[in-house]
Amino acid sequence: MNALPPSISMSALPPPIEQGEPHADARAFRRCLGQFATGVAVMTAQHEGQLAGIVVNSFASLSLDPPLILWSIRRESASLPLFRRAGRFAVNVLSAEQLAVSNRFAASRADKFNDADWSPGRHGAPLLAGCLAHLECRLEQALDGGDHLLIVGRVERYARFHGEPLLFTQGHYAVAQEHPALSVPAA
Ligand SMILES: Cc1cc2nc3c(=O)[nH]c(=O)nc-3n(C[C@H](O)[C@H](O)[C@H](O)COP(=O)(O)O)c2cc1C
Repeated sequence: MNALPPSISMSALPPPIEQGEPHADARAFRRCLGQFATGVAVMTAQHEGQLAGIVVNSFASLSLDPPLILWSIRRESASLPLFRRAGRFAVNVLSAEQLAVSNRFAASRADKFNDADWSPGRHGAPLLAGCLAHLECRLEQALDGGDHLLIVGRVERYARFHGEPLLFTQGHYAVAQEHPALSVPAA
C-alpha cells in the first residue's frame, strides 16, 4: 500500500446509489453520466437548401488558440449525413426560455424548422433566435467515438446575448441559480 503524507487522511466513501461496470446495465451507466450537469445546444447545418438541427449536451470548448470546440453525434442520427456534407455548422446555446425549442430539436422528425425563428449565418447554418450564444464553425474532424462520432469544429465567428442558460442534469432540464453559499449576507 502506498504511504500517504501525514497531512492527508483517508475517509470512507458513502455507499453508492448504484455502481458497476458500464456493459452490465446501460441505463444505470447513463444515470451515472447524468450526474454531470451540462448546458443544452442545438447544432444546425444547411446544405443546398436542406436543413439539419439536433439537440446535444455533449458540447464543450476544446481549445482557445486555435479556437476549437467539440461535440458528439450518434452514428445512427438521420441528421449526420447533412452535417458531413455541409462541412460547416452552428452551435446555438439555448436559454432557459427555450425548453420548447429543445424538445422540438430532440425529436426525430422532418419538420423541425417549421415555425422556427432563425436566420442564416455567414455560411448558411441556421442561427436560432433567442439563444445565449452562436458559434459558427467549420467541421475540422469527425473522429471515431464508439457509437458516436466526435466532431471537432473550428470557430470562425461568435456572438453572445443576454439571458440565463438552459441546463440538463440527472435526466431533467433545469435552470441555474446562484449557489446559496454565495448569497449569505456579510455579518
Ligand atoms: C438533453 C439532450 C441531449 C442530447 N445530446 C445528444 C448528443 O450529445 N449527441 C447526439 O447525437 N444526440 C443527443 N441527443 C439526442 C438528439 O437530440 C436526437 O437523437 C436527435 O435530435 C434526433 O434527430 P435525428 O433523427 O435528426 O438524428 C440529446 C437529446 C437531449 C434531449
